[in-house]
Amino acid sequence: MTWTVAAPASGQRWGPPGHGEGRHRRGGAAPPRRQPSAGGSARRATGASSVRAVPGRRLPVGGCISAIPRESAPSAGRVQRGLRRVLALLMLAGVPGAAAAQPPEEATAGPLGLGRAATAEEIAALDIDVRPDGGGLPLGGGTVADGARVWDRACRACHGAEGEGGIAAPVVGRDPAARPPTVGNYWPYATTLYDYIYRAMPGNAPGTLTPDEVYGLVAWILNRNDIVDDEAVMNAATLPDVVMPARGRFVPDDRLESDAVR
Ligand code: HEC
Repeated sequence: MTWTVAAPASGQRWGPPGHGEGRHRRGGAAPPRRQPSAGGSARRATGASSVRAVPGRRLPVGGCISAIPRESAPSAGRVQRGLRRVLALLMLAGVPGAAAAQPPEEATAGPLGLGRAATAEEIAALDIDVRPDGGGLPLGGGTVADGARVWDRACRACHGAEGEGGIAAPVVGRDPAARPPTVGNYWPYATTLYDYIYRAMPGNAPGTLTPDEVYGLVAWILNRNDIVDDEAVMNAATLPDVVMPARGRFVPDDRLESDAVR
């Protein structure tokens, strides 16, 4: 079995590039830019923190690859040494290829006899995308006050007490000229805010929030941006009706050919 260890391209760090002062480069990870065209299949934003050293996979070059401040980010050398030590132990233990690499018993699907059909539960666990029109929003709901509590616990350390930004990007701000862009001056849909937070936040523990918590956080962020009032309740019925201030700053990209210019 061959294991390759993903290493940063020369000059690239394991922490986010250009983060000398602990600021986040705003790049490809921003969800609105990943918005699939209407009707297209949703491409999952992996979120800034989901890139790991996976055997045989290379880290994407560029982009914000980690929320870990540079000082505490592991160096490529350290990670490689650690992995090598683990592999050496596995070999010493006489586990050829390690137990995890053994094909499961029912690995007979398809012409190659590899893998097995995913179960409905496995598919459901990954089927979390929420579309601009609100399709995919789950049951549940949350208020601005609910969101404030979760924000204090899980978000303010990186994004600031009022969403003004800290070691991670600001999420509050309405001035269209202000940079970096925020939920209030840039995001065209409120629905995809749910998608992004549920999928990718908090940056250090994505996938740990419940739908109710995410609805509350969406309510809180929209409220701090003066988009919904203090009593707003966000759920699958109310969220698609929220009109974002930046909605008109986007046009559908209906180009049929790559060299066409709108
Ligand atoms: C460990 C740090 C960390 C924590 C904690 C965290 N985030 Fe983030 N968040 C990030 C990083 C990094 C980004 C990517 C910023 C960028 O695009 O450069 C991000 C981006 C976002 C964005 C998109 C901003 C934009 O307009 O591009 C939203 C919204 C967001 N986070 C919400 C939350 C919420 C809600 C929580 C709490 C549940 C949370 N975050 C907790 C690090 C964090």
